[in-house]
Amino acid sequence: MKYRKKYSGLLAQELKGILSDENIERLIEKPKFLKHGDLAFPCFQMAKALRKSPVEIAKDISQKLQSKNESDFDRFEAIGGYVNAFLDKSKAAAYILNEITEKKNHYGDYNRGRQHTVTIDLSSPNIAKPFSMGHLRSTVIGNSLSLIYEKCGFKTFKINHLGDWGTQFGKLITAYKLWGSEQKVKESPIKELLALYIKFHEAAETNPELEQEGRNWFRRLENGDVEALGLWKWFKEESLKEFKKVYELLGIEFDSYAGEAFYNDKMEPIVEMLRNKELLDESDGALVVQLEDIGLPPCLIKKSDGATLYATRDLAAAKYRYDQHSFITSLYVVGNEQSLHFKQLKAVLAKMDFEWADGIIHVPFGMMLKDGKKMSTRKGKVVLLEDVLKDSIELAKKNIEEKNPLLPNQQETAAMVGTGAIIFHDLKNFRMNDIDFSLEEMLRVEGESAPYVQYTNARAKTILRKAASPVTGVEIKLEGAAEWPVVTELMDFPETVIRACHNNDPSQIAKYVLNLAQAFNRYYGEVRILKENEEKDARLALVNAVSIVLEEGLRLLGIKAPEEM
Ligand code: ARG
Repeated sequence: MKYRKKYSGLLAQELKGILSDENIERLIEKPKFLKHGDLAFPCFQMAKALRKSPVEIAKDISQKLQSKNESDFDRFEAIGGYVNAFLDKSKAAAYILNEITEKKNHYGDYNRGRQHTVTIDLSSPNIAKPFSMGHLRSTVIGNSLSLIYEKCGFKTFKINHLGDWGTQFGKLITAYKLWGSEQKVKESPIKELLALYIKFHEAAETNPELEQEGRNWFRRLENGDVEALGLWKWFKEESLKEFKKVYELLGIEFDSYAGEAFYNDKMEPIVEMLRNKELLDESDGALVVQLEDIGLPPCLIKKSDGATLYATRDLAAAKYRYDQHSFITSLYVVGNEQSLHFKQLKAVLAKMDFEWADGIIHVPFGMMLKDGKKMSTRKGKVVLLEDVLKDSIELAKKNIEEKNPLLPNQQETAAMVGTGAIIFHDLKNFRMNDIDFSLEEMLRVEGESAPYVQYTNARAKTILRKAASPVTGVEIKLEGAAEWPVVTELMDFPETVIRACHNNDPSQIAKYVLNLAQAFNRYYGEVRILKENEEKDARLALVNAVSIVLEEGLRLLGIKAPEEM
């Protein structure tokens, strides 16, 4: 950050009246190759205004900068249409290592949010249905985003918008009354409730009266019928118990579990507002908001039988969230297939003249695939996510027993590695990409995996334990080029955090920790860190800084870092 600012300051002096300081800073990038220096400024944008080729402009500017003899910089070079700056390596290394040593896990903190609130709608599984891979993706992406936003100075509020209302609960009650067993539901709630739901649909094919029965029960539920409500509550509690096992394994908590049912008494005022603003249209007895003018299909607000919908509840929820939190941004981490729904939601809120509708952001993501196909819960066969997590932990434990049988706290470490592996595998690719589910891939210590990063960090920790001298601010003297790639990675962390926040993209951080781990492992292969000579302290400061940043990077992904592996 410091050097980027300084560099853009220098450039700004040369480019007065041509580019604003802000634009200059934004344009500066990190060269792809280390041999091309540390900061690159592209000159393509100015070619028109200056009536010169970018190559010539770059030459001009670099000569001017070169003649200034700037202290923090070693030299400037024109490379293609870029002006590339080479930092004074020993100065920069000393500066950055001391900064990290001092700030520790606060390195990279940034008060962009000024304590404004961001609400995050995440996870949001459906009651009485299995916790799907899609919900897992939402959970880990949303959780990581909340950690990233907090690091950037925002307050966050994580909402689990449970799918706990809708006509399906009328059907479920009908099925339970006909074929259910209390015992079985208690034993394995999700499995049993899903089986009942499936049985209902099968039976309804030959016996259409069941559909009517389902609607009747839902009506009773909506009217607060004691029996209906009692059953619904029970299904919900049992389902939540199951979901919470997953959350516990992942180490994720929520600020609110207000699901769809929570908005039952908050929808009528919204419908009233829509009516008063003359936004409601009748269409076949149903109430809709027309969105044709912005090229979207109408948003259904009430069915012809008066029943409210998913969208109606989301409208009420959005307003409630704003009233409660005055959010500056309201994120919805929900699969890509709901893009239209969120476009409609935002559009209707905008039509209602809520200026905060601008802050509504859908953060979509792709699918989790297995062997290239969508992972679906085949009829009756439920893949319980809890089992997947437990398998992963079990596999991690086996690896540890094989490779490091004397390790203390094996169970705890296996839990960090096993769940970390699943989380990292999800977050390392840009969220819009589909990802393939493969436990082996996730747990590969040699691969682009959480265990690889965790292992690298544990290696750094082991060195620090062996050295046993506390790391304090030091005069850094570099002995060669070996540490520079590590130092430049370290320098890049704050920028990476900002980018991840700006783009709602945790993969920036995941890729970053992989790069840092790789750079450090190369360094570790080349240099004897504990060799007794005058640079030993500096090397230890570097190792310490790497470990701080790796741990902080993993933390931002929602992954723990074991001391030893
Ligand atoms: N329960 C929904 C589903 O599983 C996701 C809810 C997302 N959040 C929201 N506010 N609509 O598809």
